[in-house]
Amino acid sequence: MRRAHSREGGLPHLRARAFSPQRQKSALNRRARVHKTPSNGPADEAEIRDPVNSTAVGNTIMSAFLHETVLDVHHWTDTLFSFTATRSPSFRFENGQFAMIGLEVEGRPLVRAYSMVSTNYDEKLEFFSIKVPDGPLTSRLQHIKEGDRILVGKKPTGTLMLDNLLPGRTLYLLSTGTGLAPFMSIIRSPDTYERFEKVVLVHGCRHVNELAYGERITQELPGDEYIGDAVRERLVYYPTVTREPYQNRGRITDLISSGKLFSDIGTAPLVTEADRVMLCGSPQMIADMRAYLVGQKFDEGSSSEPGHFVIEKAFVEK
Ligand SMILES: Cc1cc2nc3c(=O)[nH]c(=O)nc-3n(C[C@H](O)[C@H](O)[C@H](O)COP(=O)(O)OP(=O)(O)OC[C@H]3O[C@@H](n4cnc5c(N)ncnc54)[C@H](O)[C@@H]3O)c2cc1C
Ligand SMILES: NC(=O)c1ccc[n+]([C@@H]2O[C@H](COP(=O)([O-])OP(=O)(O)OC[C@H]3O[C@@H](n4cnc5c(N)ncnc54)[C@H](OP(=O)(O)O)[C@@H]3O)[C@@H](O)[C@H]2O)c1
Repeated sequence: MRRAHSREGGLPHLRARAFSPQRQKSALNRRARVHKTPSNGPADEAEIRDPVNSTAVGNTIMSAFLHETVLDVHHWTDTLFSFTATRSPSFRFENGQFAMIGLEVEGRPLVRAYSMVSTNYDEKLEFFSIKVPDGPLTSRLQHIKEGDRILVGKKPTGTLMLDNLLPGRTLYLLSTGTGLAPFMSIIRSPDTYERFEKVVLVHGCRHVNELAYGERITQELPGDEYIGDAVRERLVYYPTVTREPYQNRGRITDLISSGKLFSDIGTAPLVTEADRVMLCGSPQMIADMRAYLVGQKFDEGSSSEPGHFVIEKAFVEK
């Protein structure tokens, strides 16, 4: 059950009204007082110095982590799974951020960077994970089940935040693989629809069965009591695969440089005046898209200076 978003008990006076992001946002914030955006600073240096290297956090004391309980686990394929967990009231984050999460192994934290799939107004936490066969964390994490305990770092961080973008009309969320995770949170954020007229979510995978969350996006979100109207009217979902037949085919980079994405969804090619882009996916996709955007005179944004696009690698190649 989601505290701020319960279909049974939640804010019935909002249900009958047309979407009004400001009204809904303040209602959500009222309901989710304990889950508001963070006032805490950046993640502990030890945690973010090298998010995929467990040795970097080897000396981090266990008190840097919250203990949460796994609620349910869903295996999408033999390489992808997702799970939900309890959320301590003190765990605050911005939609689009990531945290260090993992397991306690021999009394020490074995943690990696994970984006939150859930939003900052959800009662539960949700994560979407790869299963790396010999991966130190995911070779273990893939076996978690209801009732198991996980560690969640107390200080979330990240660059995929709306505040890091200049104002614009259309927001493109371009992801490959597990890079979809932060965008699942962003497409459910009332702020997103307050700031952008249209939101285009592209998810690129090798195979059709890796297009996780497709049904939630197309079947559940349009009926959501808070953001359903916005999702129906302003969210465009464009799944694409590269290694088998499907309705949309091709790499995100090719779909953009050829203009096929835009002709398929009925928008104009990217321009700095109107379009903003968030990228999350494989390091190669990020590098290629960044080069393309810079070539189109797009400026990269950060927390110190908002820009036309922001990036986050969905993993680091070793
Ligand atoms: C900012 C950030 C956010 C991240 N968010 C997520 C997330 O939401 N979900 C998630 O599953 N992972 C995410 N990762 C990757 C994650 O931190 C770990 O690398 C992953 O959990 C595997 O851990 P491991 O210890 O099993 O293997 P590692 O030793 O960490 O990784 C081994 C190798 O597996 C491959 N790999 C690792 N993660 C992925 C991935 N997600 N997709 C494809 N190949 C991968 C890479 O080649 C990597 O070098 C994120 C990484 C960063 C830097
Ligand atoms: N997914 C699998 O079935 C599978 C199987 C074995 C091993 N792995 C390993 O797992 C890791 C991650 O696999 P993954 O499937 O999540 O990620 P991935 O290899 O990055 O592929 C995800 C999607 O991104 C596309 N892509 C890759 N490079 C791109 C670029 N430069 N520009 C635009 N699009 C790009 C891929 O297209 P292309 O298909 O054209 O590359 C694919 O559609 C890799 O290290 C891989 O070796 C994955």
